[in-house]
Amino acid sequence: MANLVITIDGPAASGKSTVARLLAERLGASFLDTGAMYRAVTLAAIRAGVDMSDQEKLLGVMETSDFQFSVKEGKMVVGINGADVSEQLRNPEITANARHIASAPRVREKLVEMQRQFAAGEEKIVTEGRDQGTVAFGDADIKFYLTAEPSERAGRRQAELRAKGVSESLEKIQRAIEERDKSDENRTVGPLKPAGDAIVVDTTDLSIKEVVEKLLSCVKEKCLKKN
Ligand code: DC
Repeated sequence: MANLVITIDGPAASGKSTVARLLAERLGASFLDTGAMYRAVTLAAIRAGVDMSDQEKLLGVMETSDFQFSVKEGKMVVGINGADVSEQLRNPEITANARHIASAPRVREKLVEMQRQFAAGEEKIVTEGRDQGTVAFGDADIKFYLTAEPSERAGRRQAELRAKGVSESLEKIQRAIEERDKSDENRTVGPLKPAGDAIVVDTTDLSIKEVVEKLLSCVKEKCLKKN
């Protein structure tokens, strides 16, 4: 197990990935984007053409696929059977179908196992997702839960899409975000919720830089207390 495990959970578009990456950089830690793992299994299942609601089929896809997860130059790199698929993982088709993978209990178990294995090989790690502080790393050193108003999250997602040349209405984006929140919060396994001992940070009125500084000062404070 790593010497320092920091978890960051929170809803879609709450800024977790960017914050986790920057926090890890500041701490000289590795980072894990566990959403990318769910997305990778979604892509493999779509390619295999299996019924997404059939857990046995999904487990079969996982068994026959060789997933590689690594971090290169501060970016999460995901491979399936030796081919880099990182760029495809944020396609709308994958975003829309990932909930099937996320609600299959045995698939989640396997992914949590892979997340723990990944962490075991690192000295310090910042890991982000929905269940990192509640399920995967219940005894993490520091747990954060990032949240923001749905309208703010929709605005951030719209700006992200615009930067990629994609134009989408704010209403449509917000509706999709709220649907994902509902599906994340209501599944029976690994639902989205703050761990009892998580530090909850509302980022609605904060810039990414401010969030990173805030988390960093919590980490320093906790580490000082520990030593
Ligand atoms: O964070 P993201 O949008 O890349 O996550 C993709 C999907 O995976 C989303 O449906 C939520 C799910 N997920 C999950 O259930 N548990 C995690 N630890 C990470 C992501």
